[in-house]
Amino acid sequence: MILFCLDRAALSFDCFSAAEHFAVNVLSAEQHELSVRFSTATADKWDGVAYDLWPGDLPVLCDCLANLVCRRESLYEGGDHVIVVGRVERLHTAGEGDPLVYFQSSYRSLGPSV
Ligand SMILES: Cc1cc2nc3c(=O)[nH]c(=O)nc-3n(C[C@H](O)[C@H](O)[C@H](O)COP(=O)(O)O)c2cc1C
Repeated sequence: MILFCLDRAALSFDCFSAAEHFAVNVLSAEQHELSVRFSTATADKWDGVAYDLWPGDLPVLCDCLANLVCRRESLYEGGDHVIVVGRVERLHTAGEGDPLVYFQSSYRSLGPSV
């Protein structure tokens, strides 16, 4: 299972809350521009972006560390957000790589293990 918290003010709120399926893309440390693009409020996020269509016409970003497709299982009230819970139905992993991390208002990658 997986969850994310969806801002009620997001332009994509109606889409996500109505969709039966959603995708989660785990970005690598080299993909911070993609994160900036998809975290900016615009309607044309997908223009010029490389993606594959998975069954159900679900767009999934290319060259990620992992991609998941989830069936929406529940929506819970969460104040100014809605908590979306999904059941993972399909998973693709791409082997080794550093994940993109966001911490204290900056993009980072994980350092060596201690
Ligand atoms: C690192 C990072 C994490 C974010 N996490 C969330 C989140 O968990 N839920 C959410 O609703 N918005 C989150 N946002 C903000 C959305 O990306 C932002 O509101 C975006 O404009 C939404 O796009 P839309 O308005 O076109 O739907 C995050 C932004 C950044 C940069």
